[in-house]
Amino acid sequence: HKVDLEPLKKEAALRAVALIESGMRVGLGTGSTAKYAIEEIGRKVQSGELTGIVGVATSEASDTLARAVGLTVEPLDPRPLDIAIDGADEIAPNLDLIKGLGGALLREKLTEVQSRRLIIIADHSKIVGQIGEKSALPIEIARFGFLSTIERLRQIVPGGRLRQPGAQPYVTDNGNYIYDAHLPVGGDIAALERTLKGTLGVVETGLFLGMAERAFVASPDGVQELSR
Ligand code: A5P
Repeated sequence: HKVDLEPLKKEAALRAVALIESGMRVGLGTGSTAKYAIEEIGRKVQSGELTGIVGVATSEASDTLARAVGLTVEPLDPRPLDIAIDGADEIAPNLDLIKGLGGALLREKLTEVQSRRLIIIADHSKIVGQIGEKSALPIEIARFGFLSTIERLRQIVPGGRLRQPGAQPYVTDNGNYIYDAHLPVGGDIAALERTLKGTLGVVETGLFLGMAERAFVASPDGVQELSR
């Protein structure tokens, strides 16, 4: 029998939002779990429980949602963020992540790398023993010459495909395409990240290594708190 994950995702989100204090600059994640966090931050700001909150959104969708729930949203500037709360597609035991199934990986990485704390929220289906076990790795690539870039990527990670939900390829908020690669499980993931980042035409990868400080992972038994 299938567990309804939505209440679990919301529970994880509330635990993370409880870490936010008034006056903080907050990175707002993207996806169906991060949505619960943004709504909860909005609720706390509206009720006056939190004041002086500034959000930095990791996607157009989260920007729109944040404004709709009454949050002040500012563009990313060089100042550090106090905390960022976001979902993930895979969470390894050391809190290395795959992100970007929602397509927002570039803005997520740009925002979260300059946050003092990155808190991940997810349901238990996202937990893996090793990166690449369940999820494809989203890789954002330039549109110009994308077939050539994909050829280069196939030399590094043989399996994968251009993300194309309909007649046209999926286009990110930054006007790029996404190649969903299938990773060999058990390799040197940091070396792979360096190789991918050094590949012409690659804009960013969905590997978030050594970035997350904590994860709230909800299962039917309750919310588990993971740290690295
Ligand atoms: C967005 O680009 C992703 O990095 C999301 O964080 C990820 O896809 C998780 O989304 P869900 O919470 O909807 O599973």
